[in-house]
Amino acid sequence: PSCTPGSNTKLVKISKAHKIAWSQNALDGAWRFAEEASIEQQAQQHGYQLLKANANNSDVQQVQDIETLINDRPDVLLVDPHTEDAEAKAILDARKACIPVIVVDRDVNESLATPGRDFATFIGSDFNKQGQLAADALIESLGGPSTKATIVELSGTTGSSPAILRGGGFDGELASKAPGIKIVAEQTANFARATGQQVMSTLIQQYPNIKGVFAHNDEMAIGAITALKASGKHPGSDIKVVSIDGTKDAVNLVLSGEEYAVVQSNPRLGPLVFQTLDQYLKGQDLPAWVVQQDKVFKKADGSAAAYLPDAF
Ligand code: AHR
Repeated sequence: PSCTPGSNTKLVKISKAHKIAWSQNALDGAWRFAEEASIEQQAQQHGYQLLKANANNSDVQQVQDIETLINDRPDVLLVDPHTEDAEAKAILDARKACIPVIVVDRDVNESLATPGRDFATFIGSDFNKQGQLAADALIESLGGPSTKATIVELSGTTGSSPAILRGGGFDGELASKAPGIKIVAEQTANFARATGQQVMSTLIQQYPNIKGVFAHNDEMAIGAITALKASGKHPGSDIKVVSIDGTKDAVNLVLSGEEYAVVQSNPRLGPLVFQTLDQYLKGQDLPAWVVQQDKVFKKADGSAAAYLPDAF
């Protein structure tokens, strides 16, 4: 590769790749399994050897994984960072070792590692827009912009780009479009179903009059719905739930009426990643961000039923 080892100003250029390294932040639910399968399938289809690591939701583990993968001298490193800040230094270490990096799904803090300079590009969904779409759906479910109601928000992993951006997109959209809908509690449930259930069962006792729940992912929403039903609520009628991802379980809840809407976060990033890698190897300029397009699934307009066969 045309790169000075240790240099931190020059983007690494390579024209051929055989060995690809893949640092996954966790394998803990339908979304991550679908993403992993998509990366594996596409790597195989392109004839690459894939070196894999799974950090089990640990920043310490993921930094260690990336350092180990760097030592294996892959031609390219793909990283799905657990949080925005923690893996940035390891990404810079890869670049210093002349290994080009593509950041996948979750972004890194741009002030710590910059696309086009420190890594080739970021490929992933627009999490901020997902949050805005979730707010629009929840506002609609509660009767429109002039509604007065209280809701709670179950956040994803603290410090992760989807939690930061979905939260920001949702909160901003709600405040500007429906100021009468107030978020009375915002608590993390780490993108996990069991934690979503635990957190929701406490919140519903503290705030029995809430009319809505926004969960940053489907897993937490499914846990929350279980907790709401156990507390005597009727999700879909006396309380509305909206979440993000597009898992089979959540889309089925939309179809049964217990969830109002699911905003898609398409985990099948493999085609976009390997198509972008092809362009990179040909020396083409890459945008700083390759955006994965997402939709909204509801019962009323038939979009949830149409999407169900593709759900993961
Ligand atoms: O980074 C994407 C998010 O991570 C998905 O919404 C979630 O399900 C996963 O844990």
